[in-house]
Amino acid sequence: MPREILVTSALPYANGRIHLGHMVEHTQSDIWVRAMRMAGHTVHYVCADDAHGTSIMLRAEREGITPEALIEGVWKEHIADLRDFGVVYDHYSSTHTEANRELTYRIWQALEKNGHVESKPVKQLFDPERQMFLPDRFIKGECPVCHSKDQYGDACEVCGSTYNPIDLIDPYSVVSGAKPIEKESLHFFVKLADFESLLKTWLEERRHAGGLQSEVVNKLKEWFADGLRSWDVSRDAPYFGFEIPGQPDKYFYVWVDAPVGYLAAFKELCDSGGKPGLTAADFDRFLDTGSGTEMVHFIGKDIIYFHTLFWPAMLHGAGLRMPTQVNVHGFLTVDGAKMSKSRGTFVNARTYLEHLDPDWLRYYLASMLGPTLTDIDLDLKAFEERVNSHLVGKWVNIASRCAGFLHKFFDGKLAATLPETAHGRYDAAAAKLEACAALYESRDYAAAMRLIIEVADEANAYVADHAPWVMAKDESRRDELHGVLTLALNYFRLLTIWLAPVVPTTAARAFEFLDDTPADFAAALRPLLGHAINPFKALATRIDPKSIEAMIEVSKESLQPSVSASSSAHPNPLPQAEAGDQRAQTATSTSPATVSIDDFAKLDLRIGKVRVCEAVEGSDKLLRFELDAGELGTRQIFSGIKSAYAEPAKLVGRNVVFIANLAPRKMRFGVSEGMILSAGTGGNDLFLLDADQGAGAGAPVR
Ligand code: MSP
Ligand code: ZN
Repeated sequence: MPREILVTSALPYANGRIHLGHMVEHTQSDIWVRAMRMAGHTVHYVCADDAHGTSIMLRAEREGITPEALIEGVWKEHIADLRDFGVVYDHYSSTHTEANRELTYRIWQALEKNGHVESKPVKQLFDPERQMFLPDRFIKGECPVCHSKDQYGDACEVCGSTYNPIDLIDPYSVVSGAKPIEKESLHFFVKLADFESLLKTWLEERRHAGGLQSEVVNKLKEWFADGLRSWDVSRDAPYFGFEIPGQPDKYFYVWVDAPVGYLAAFKELCDSGGKPGLTAADFDRFLDTGSGTEMVHFIGKDIIYFHTLFWPAMLHGAGLRMPTQVNVHGFLTVDGAKMSKSRGTFVNARTYLEHLDPDWLRYYLASMLGPTLTDIDLDLKAFEERVNSHLVGKWVNIASRCAGFLHKFFDGKLAATLPETAHGRYDAAAAKLEACAALYESRDYAAAMRLIIEVADEANAYVADHAPWVMAKDESRRDELHGVLTLALNYFRLLTIWLAPVVPTTAARAFEFLDDTPADFAAALRPLLGHAINPFKALATRIDPKSIEAMIEVSKESLQPSVSASSSAHPNPLPQAEAGDQRAQTATSTSPATVSIDDFAKLDLRIGKVRVCEAVEGSDKLLRFELDAGELGTRQIFSGIKSAYAEPAKLVGRNVVFIANLAPRKMRFGVSEGMILSAGTGGNDLFLLDADQGAGAGAPVR
C-alpha cells in the first residue's frame, strides 16, 4: 500500500554555516526519502532555517544589520550547500514567515482555549546596561564549585558541574560586561503535566510501531519520574521572534515556533501549487488526527525532548495530529574526536564541496549509519580507502572494464538475452538486493551497503572468471563475450539502482551512460536487454588523499569566513546558544578557535623601554618609537596610537610590551621592527600596557 509521508530534518540555526555534522542528518533523511519514493510511496520533504532567538538578534546587532538581512543571507547559503550535497527538499523555508506566524498563533490560541497555558512571575538575571534578560549562555563568571574563571551560566566546562547562573561568583553579562541583577517578570508556560499520561501512551505506542527507538523511550521515561514540570515558553523583549498575541513585549521562545516551522514549510508547499498533486486543501487534511498520513522527523540526539515531549504535547493540546516517527541519530566525530577547529576537523559543507565529491561522503556516512543513537566517526583514512575500494574499485569499475568492448564489437548494444551458462545469476542477485528496501526503511543503511558490496563482489568475480579481455582476442567467442558483457553491465545497473538513494548524482550519470531511467526499485527485477547504451565517460574518480589533507588544512584557519560579509574576526565573540538548549552549540559558534600553548609560545613578547617617541610628519595616526630592547638591541616601531597620546615625548622612559618576532614591515616612513601592544578599541580608547617597576628592557613576557 503506498503511503503518504511528510519528512523533515531539524531546522538548522540561521546564525551559522552548515557543517559536516549537519550533513549526517540531511544525508540520512535524504537517503530515506529517495528510498521510500523508489519503493513507491509519496513523500513530501521539507526543511527550513530556524531564524529566531537571542543569538541571532545579537549577532545582527553586532554586525550592524537587521536580523532579517542576516537570516536572508544565511538562508541562501544553506540552500546552496544542501543542494550541492544532493539533498533535495521539496521546499526549504524559514521560521520567520507569515505562514509560520499564523500557524504558531493558531496552535497557541488552541492551547490557551483548552486550558493548557498558565503564567507566573520568574526571577532571572538581567543586564542593566543592555536592558535585557540574559539566557544562561550569555552570562559568565567564576564556577562556584572549582572556581575556574569565565564559565557559562549553566555549566562549568572545567569541572563539569551544572548550576544556576545566580550561583556564579562575580557574574558578568557577555553582552555588555555589566554585572547582572536579579529581576522578575511574568512568563507563560505550557502545562506539560496535562499531557503526562497521553505522552506515556504515545511513547510506548511509538516504540512498538517502530516510530521511536527503544533507547530514546527509556531515556524519556526517566523524565516522568518526578512529574513533568511546566515548560516556560515566553521571553521578554528585546527578542527576535514572534510576539505573543495580546501580550506586548512578550515573545515566543524560539523552540515554540521552530517545530511549527515544519508544518508551516509544508503549508507553503501545499499553497504554492508547486508540487503536482498537492493543493492547499491537502494541508488541512494532513493536520487531521485521522488522516492516515505520516509525519516523520529526523533529529540529532541533543534535541530529543523538544521533539518527543514538547512538540507532541503542543500538537495534541491544539487538537492536531502527532508525529508518526521521530528518528534520532548520533553525533559526528572526526578521527575519533569531537570536531575541532584547531585540528581542522570542523569542516564546513562548502569547504568539503570545494575539495571532494559529495556522493563520496554520502556513501561513507551511509556505510556507518544504523538505526541507533551511536555516534558516527568520520575516519579520514577509512573514508578514503572505503570509497576508493567500494565505489570506484567495485562498482564503477564493472562498467569501465566492460563498456569499451560492447562498443567495439557490438555497436554498444546489449544482447537480447542473458547468457544461458549464467542461468539464474541475475535473478538471484536481484532477489538478494530486494532486502535493501526494508533496510533503507529501517534506516539500517550500513547493512544495506554491506549487501550491495557483497553483490558487487559477486559481479567482479564473475567478470574476473570470464575475463572478457581474453575472450575479445578470439573472434570465435563473440557471442559468449556479448553475453558476459551483458550480464556484467546488468550487474552494474542493478547495483546502481540500489545505490541511487545514497549516491544520486553519480547514479544519474551512470543511468545516462546506460541510457536508462529506472523510476523505482521494481525496475531492478527486469534486466536491460537488446538496448543500446552510451559510450562510457568517467563516472567518478578515486579520492586523492591530498584533497583530504587540503580540506583539513583550510579548515584549520583560526577564523573561517563566516556567513555574512561583515562578520569578520570579532575580538569578543558572543556565545551562540539559547537558554534551555542544554548544550554548547558547536554548530553555530563563530568564536575563534582555541590555540594551544605552543601557538602562544610562537610569539616573542618583550618589554621595551621607550627611548624616543615622536609624531611622524605626514601621518595623523602614527607615532615613531625607539625602544631599548635589552639583548635584542634597539628597535624602531611605528604605532598607530597618535590619537590617544597628544604628547608623545611624555612616553619616554616608560615600559611597553611589544612583539619582537613580527616580520619587519617597510612603511612609507621607515621600517617597523615589531608591534607595540595596547588595550582598547581604537581612537582615544587606547592604552599602552605597562610592566611593574623592575622589569628590565628586553625581558620576555609569558
Ligand atoms: N534549530 C535547532 C533545531 C530546531 S528543529 C525544530 C537546532 N539547530 S542546529 O543547527 O544546532 O542543529 C540542527 C541539527 O543538526 C540537529 O538535529 C542537531 O542534532 C544536528 N547536528 C548538529 N551538529 C551535529 C553533529 N556534530 N553531528 C550530528 N548531528 C549534529 O538544533
Ligand atoms: Zn568548575
